[in-house]
Amino acid sequence: MNPKINFNSAAEKHAYVNQMFARIAPRYDIMNRLMSAGQDGRWRNLLVKQLQLPPQGNLLDIATGTGDIAFEAVRQRPDLAQVVGADFTLPMMTIGKNRYPQLQNRQKLSWSGADTVYLPFPDDYFDGVVSGFLMRNVTNVANVLADQTRVCKPGGKVAILEIPRPAESLFGAMFRLYFHNIVPMLGGIISGQPDAYSYLPHSADAFLRPEELKQAMETAGLKNVQYTMLMMGTVALHVGQK
Ligand SMILES: C[S@@+](CC[C@H](N)C(=O)[O-])C[C@H]1O[C@@H](n2cnc3c(N)ncnc32)[C@H](O)[C@@H]1O
Repeated sequence: MNPKINFNSAAEKHAYVNQMFARIAPRYDIMNRLMSAGQDGRWRNLLVKQLQLPPQGNLLDIATGTGDIAFEAVRQRPDLAQVVGADFTLPMMTIGKNRYPQLQNRQKLSWSGADTVYLPFPDDYFDGVVSGFLMRNVTNVANVLADQTRVCKPGGKVAILEIPRPAESLFGAMFRLYFHNIVPMLGGIISGQPDAYSYLPHSADAFLRPEELKQAMETAGLKNVQYTMLMMGTVALHVGQK
């Protein structure tokens, strides 16, 4: 299949993303470990720490995929009351549901089929709303941020872990070279879906810069928005407060 880069409509991208994640679900986790040289677990660890959730708090991990962030929250914060992992690609969550059967407090984690465009949760419900590697995939960042903010309690946090548009620098150019050449080749070998891993770097190129995402979060009504650059500036962790 040819790399999918341009879409004729928002609906076409939405459907492509959904079907593409269903195709790569079986090899998603192993590809993440390889592409990040085993570092992605540290980013999720930091993400959960920066939320500073209250004891007995609740967390929504939207676009949970196979549940890496949700599992990290359950592990790191056994005092939480509830963690909800939600996604619109059921095959990703099916894999997640079979992971870590012996994990303590696993019963605090529930799974929900949900589209981030219309979150099926009440207003002011969660102490924290997080997403990992979701926002590049949506067609209307402003609307998605507004809905994530809606379901967050006043005083709660909205956090985003994402690959922003690479910087216009020598390092950015080197990263692009790796991202556009090595990753699709590796993805093709490991997952048999080279188009998915060609879509990945193109979606980062088309995404916001870190400062632009910060501004979009502020426009959605979030305050004290701060971001940390990780992995030599190739991954950004944004956190804002409602
Ligand atoms: C790159 S994976 C990230 C999974 C997980 N958050 C992680 O950190 O590994 C992106 C996930 O976003 C989900 N996704 C994309 N668009 C979505 C939408 N509109 N609503 C809900 N989930 C969405 C995909 O199904 C996929 O599981």
